Amino acid sequence: MRADYCESGLLPGEPEAVEAGYRSAAHGSPRTRTAALVRKRLGLLIGETMNTVKTLTPIRREPELLGQTVVVIGGSSGIGLETARRARTEGARVILTGRNPERLKRAAKEVEAESTAAFDATDPLAIERFFHDLPTVDHVMVTAGRPYYGRLVDMDFNEVRHLMAEHLLQALYVARSAMNKVRPGGTLILMGGTGGRRPAIGMNIAGAVTAALPNLTANLAVEIAPVRVNLIAAGFVDTPLSAELLGDQLENRRDHLRTTLPIRRVVGPKDVASLAVHIMTNTALTGATYDVDGGQQFVAA
Ligand SMILES: NC(=O)c1ccc[n+]([C@@H]2O[C@H](COP(=O)([O-])OP(=O)(O)OC[C@H]3O[C@@H](n4cnc5c(N)ncnc54)[C@H](OP(=O)(O)O)[C@@H]3O)[C@@H](O)[C@H]2O)c1
Repeated sequence: MRADYCESGLLPGEPEAVEAGYRSAAHGSPRTRTAALVRKRLGLLIGETMNTVKTLTPIRREPELLGQTVVVIGGSSGIGLETARRARTEGARVILTGRNPERLKRAAKEVEAESTAAFDATDPLAIERFFHDLPTVDHVMVTAGRPYYGRLVDMDFNEVRHLMAEHLLQALYVARSAMNKVRPGGTLILMGGTGGRRPAIGMNIAGAVTAALPNLTANLAVEIAPVRVNLIAAGFVDTPLSAELLGDQLENRRDHLRTTLPIRRVVGPKDVASLAVHIMTNTALTGATYDVDGGQQFVAA
């Protein structure tokens, strides 16, 4: 036991061992004797650690989402598809949606989805129809959408109106339908970002949406309780969407993030998926925003 350190700083039994070490190195130089002493001491410590390890019992647990159903709106690619994979390995059934039927079919086959539905998640009627036909489920995650960047002078206001709908109204449409289909204690998880917290040219819309989502989430959590509502705010995540937006700049961006982020690596969809599954399973979490950006917001990478 650490508390048994004697005055010399040696553990009980060590003085004898040290003495033995000295004896075996009795004819060596002071440096040789010191090396023997250190080896002896290390040997004791390693032996001590191994004894401790032997007594540990490995953690055995049930899959965390066993028998539950997870709906991913925007589940045919990137963060949504990775969350579906993760949910499957935790024993859940998954239902995937997206717009492109082919992509959806491929994703559904991979994760052996219970069912799929192809529709545009910015269409309130399509969302209503989808939820109407749905049995009671445990969790709904919304990853459909993409960010909008653009300078004021270049804005097409019709497009902007559509994009605002995509980001904010979509959450309301889904929440109104989900409140009757998600079981009490289940979750609605929305996706936002951390990048829009820092004002910059071209970040008008992204910034407004970023600021609004945590508040919207907290209000929904109060209003549609006992369904829990939470928001995941990501920085750069290495997904097909990021690849599409960055084109041939993708590798440079990855390199830059590897050197500047406090975590010294790029955040991937698996990082977000494991957070999403944690939010699904931790029934104390509601109304909150969880950042997963590897510290990007603090270093302006
Ligand atoms: N990647 C990042 O760095 C990052 C950072 C912060 C936040 N986010 C947000 O996280 C979410 C997921 O991003 P991701 O990188 O995983 O994107 P992704 O790889 O493009 O995946 C998006 C998924 O949503 C579906 N989708 C997109 N728009 C849709 C719509 N209007 N209706 C129905 N389905 C739709 C896509 O399929 P279809 O195209 O076939 O519909 C796809 O399955 C997005 O909202 C994004 O803005 C991403």
